[in-house]
Amino acid sequence: MHAHSEKIIALESNSTSFIININDSGPSVLYWGEKIAASTATQVVTMHQRNMGPGTASKEVPILLCPTHGSGFMGQHGLSLHRSGHNWDMHLSDIHILEQTAQHVIIKLSDSNAGVSLQHNITLDKETDVLICNTSVTNNGADGLTIDWCNAGTLALPSFIDQVTGFHGRWANEFQTHKTDLNIGVYLRENLRGRTSHDSFPGLVAHTKNTTEQNGPAYGFHLGWSGNHRIAAEKMFDGRSFVQMGEKLIAGEVILPSGASYCSPKLYAAFSTSGFSSLSQKFHRFVRTKLLTEEVRKKPRPVHYNTWEAVYFNHDTLTLQTLADKAAEVGAERFVLDDGWFSARRDDTAGLGDWFVDHDVYPEGLHPLIDHVLGTGMEFGLWVEPEMVNPNSDLYRNHPDWILKATDAPHIRSRNQLVLDLTKEPVREYLYERIDSLLSEYKISYLKWDMNRDIHHPGSDGVAANSAQTHALYALLKRLREKHPTVEIESCSSGGARIDYGILAHTDRVWTSDSNDALDRLNIQRGISFFFPSNVMGSHVGPRDCHITRRILSMDLRAATAIFGHMGMELNLTELTSEETETLKTAISLYKKNRDLLHSGNHIRLDTKDHASAFAVVSECQNEAVFSYTQIKTCDETAPETLFFIGINHEKSYTLDLIWPLGFTSKTAGDISRLNGHIFSGDVLSKVGLQLPHMHPETALVFMLKAID
Ligand code: GLA
Repeated sequence: MHAHSEKIIALESNSTSFIININDSGPSVLYWGEKIAASTATQVVTMHQRNMGPGTASKEVPILLCPTHGSGFMGQHGLSLHRSGHNWDMHLSDIHILEQTAQHVIIKLSDSNAGVSLQHNITLDKETDVLICNTSVTNNGADGLTIDWCNAGTLALPSFIDQVTGFHGRWANEFQTHKTDLNIGVYLRENLRGRTSHDSFPGLVAHTKNTTEQNGPAYGFHLGWSGNHRIAAEKMFDGRSFVQMGEKLIAGEVILPSGASYCSPKLYAAFSTSGFSSLSQKFHRFVRTKLLTEEVRKKPRPVHYNTWEAVYFNHDTLTLQTLADKAAEVGAERFVLDDGWFSARRDDTAGLGDWFVDHDVYPEGLHPLIDHVLGTGMEFGLWVEPEMVNPNSDLYRNHPDWILKATDAPHIRSRNQLVLDLTKEPVREYLYERIDSLLSEYKISYLKWDMNRDIHHPGSDGVAANSAQTHALYALLKRLREKHPTVEIESCSSGGARIDYGILAHTDRVWTSDSNDALDRLNIQRGISFFFPSNVMGSHVGPRDCHITRRILSMDLRAATAIFGHMGMELNLTELTSEETETLKTAISLYKKNRDLLHSGNHIRLDTKDHASAFAVVSECQNEAVFSYTQIKTCDETAPETLFFIGINHEKSYTLDLIWPLGFTSKTAGDISRLNGHIFSGDVLSKVGLQLPHMHPETALVFMLKAID
């Protein structure tokens, strides 16, 4: 296809149309929204036509999927490159469709004079409506081509979008959300932490001021990438707006030799006409059915017992065996031995890199512990942090040159550790050999793969290498998974600093946050649920007095929060009262009984007053639902609000039971025993709702609805 011709490509999924217009400038989004007949695509072009404003250029430059200088675009560019100062202005006018189906297209654009070509790879997933796109750039010239920036995609927004929701956070308080008006100018988040980050999750929702959890339009965007990123939403002076995401490259990080290509990470996007919750449900379905492996999809998520907050670095086989017995008694199905098992690792100042069992602590290796754990019927999991090294380790003493660094600047330590340079083959080989031999020697079915620092100096032999480091990590994970396909891997990074679809394509679960404070967790879990389903979200019952916030919370509340993720425990079980042990045991059996529903149903975040947090999980067929309502702080009024059981079928009738806390008393939950045994119509449940009883702060109620025949 050549200049001055026009082509329309209409992709469609179950309920979405994504229509691309290709004109002489290149491809741009013509329409993205509720499904319209593909045959009407040319009508969209006519409707879309904009009159030129006074005092503007003779041509309005379209918002291309990758806007360039050459196209004359004056907003945020999607591509920035040059060949010794030239070719920055290339005109990619030679356009070919390499592949096309109803859900997929590959568009290639070239400028033969400049020796540059670009390729957009776009898929609209039929079943989940999630759009996946990336962009690659190839150097067809003879000399090196410097790539400063190449977006995954720039997606134009409809004119009614006037707000964005972004994500911020910090260690132990990830996934906080903020709403901001999309004013003329740019909402920009740039992450240079070298990992996905605690404070700038690469996700964004664009919506209107009136969009709520259940109503109104919402477009969601997420960059599946575990390194540096740049995400922007721009509203231009002419009224048009767009979202753009891609990898943030460091100066000189990508210089393509002749014939080589750079491929951006993938941008995942979806839209909904009915609020944030249904937008999230599309992303959840996508992760569950397309990103996770078949094995993880099929296997009920086992209850974890993790040793970290129980023993920290104080390992000894007998104590751990006792904890394993207690864990199995309350219902744990997987025992994860956290940090502290390897050479010299008595605290966080030494040992990282030396992935050999510490024979001072485990004279017979891990066999006695693992055999014991397996004997209780649990699986065994092991913590590792392969990308890191303590200067106080044999690995560093033998290979001080194996780390990422800046050429002359002094090292910056974080948690007493430095980062290994995974772009070097011997480093990768060492790590592969170590982990492979641990997995081969021991019956380990789970790895908690940690990464506990930002990368301040991502330099390899003087060249910036964060991009290459991230790819090398993915390759290492892939290689290990191929060799050990039944071993599940958790992505942990000082809690939630490496949670994204890029890492999730190589792992099976994420450690949401180091904070097990149930109240803080409610908000963190609410934030993460924008893009991630509950079955990948690690959620543990922590100690009575939270080690991070020192807040003391009841077992009832801690359990009520943990059952809504991939449930686990992380506390010293020998310190529990018998009442706490019983409560925990009951919560675990409640989780086991309902995990199929909890991990496959539609997650609905409910809008509440500020003193509360509420959500629901409703089965796809609407026969079962669980509703959770937590009163976080004192309520201004005598009684809390009405709880509307939305998302269920209005035509059906349901039994309504309070399933948590068990044996509730009027002190915590008022007299709602009157509900038991009653049947209510879906209409009444969702439209009239239940007047909740008086509740104390820091208490939660969980209701179960079951449709009757
Ligand atoms: C990180 C993790 C914790 C724990 C410690 C061990 O902080 O997020 O869960 O594994 O490391 O050092």
